[in-house]
Amino acid sequence: MLTLKQVRWKPEDGDEVLKGIDLTVEAGKLTVVTGPNGGGKTSLAKVIAGINSVTGGTILLDDIDITEKNITDRAKLGVSYAFQQPVRFKGITVHDLLDLAAGGKIPEEEICELMAKVGLCTKDYIEREVNASLSGGEIKRIEIASVLARRNSRVLIFDEPEAGIDLWSFAGLIDAFEELKKDKQKALLVISHQERLLEIADEIAVIADGKVRIKGPGTEILPQLMEGEKSGGCPIGREW
Ligand SMILES: Nc1ncnc2c1ncn2[C@@H]1O[C@H](COP(=O)(O)OP(=O)(O)OP(=O)(O)O)[C@@H](O)[C@H]1O
Ligand SMILES: [Mg+2]
Repeated sequence: MLTLKQVRWKPEDGDEVLKGIDLTVEAGKLTVVTGPNGGGKTSLAKVIAGINSVTGGTILLDDIDITEKNITDRAKLGVSYAFQQPVRFKGITVHDLLDLAAGGKIPEEEICELMAKVGLCTKDYIEREVNASLSGGEIKRIEIASVLARRNSRVLIFDEPEAGIDLWSFAGLIDAFEELKKDKQKALLVISHQERLLEIADEIAVIADGKVRIKGPGTEILPQLMEGEKSGGCPIGREW
């Protein structure tokens, strides 16, 4: 379980972005974080992964305080993060990347399974470099596969996994998340604007202007979000 208590983050050269976030991401559940562009979702993912250091508050992974730990230590403890905009690596093949993520050579059949989950045909991609020649949707799917490849993950964070992914592959991705949810050891945090993902969420949190504006079981929160959308007003039917 991941617990955030009054987490704050202010970039060196800007205004405070995260303004006291309280959030719990339970193991065996899918928590979807949504909210307007620029609300602070990616910033939140980055403080959890240790890419940005908090300027206030506490982050706990199970009972371990990871607030002061660096990216590598957090990764070792089981924090896995799939970027909104994945990084490209010249000279590293898809196969290398997945092996690196897994911390050892992945057997051929496991590679096939992983690639199938993200809708990529193994033989076409496995020896390709993770460089600029891959399309936006391809790199995004390989990034997701690399997080799925990690063996020790306790918290998996996916930042807008739907971005750039075609409708057909997206259905497969939903299946992969449904399967991940069944693992009682892993906490799943997905940042998304996609209705289909919100529908399978156990918990939904809406983040806007650096604060959690509303959170609760998906079955309660999703109808409120949909109602707001239909009426053309604020997505949760009241001021953020
Ligand atoms: N390193 C930084 N320096 C200054 N401002 C930043 C930095 N990173 C993020 N911000 C600002 O913080 C705010 C929140 O950004 P963030 O990327 O977290 O939003 P988001 O909720 O993920 O949005 P989106 O839905 O568009 O992905 C934005 O106004 C952004 O410009
Ligand atoms: Mg973002």
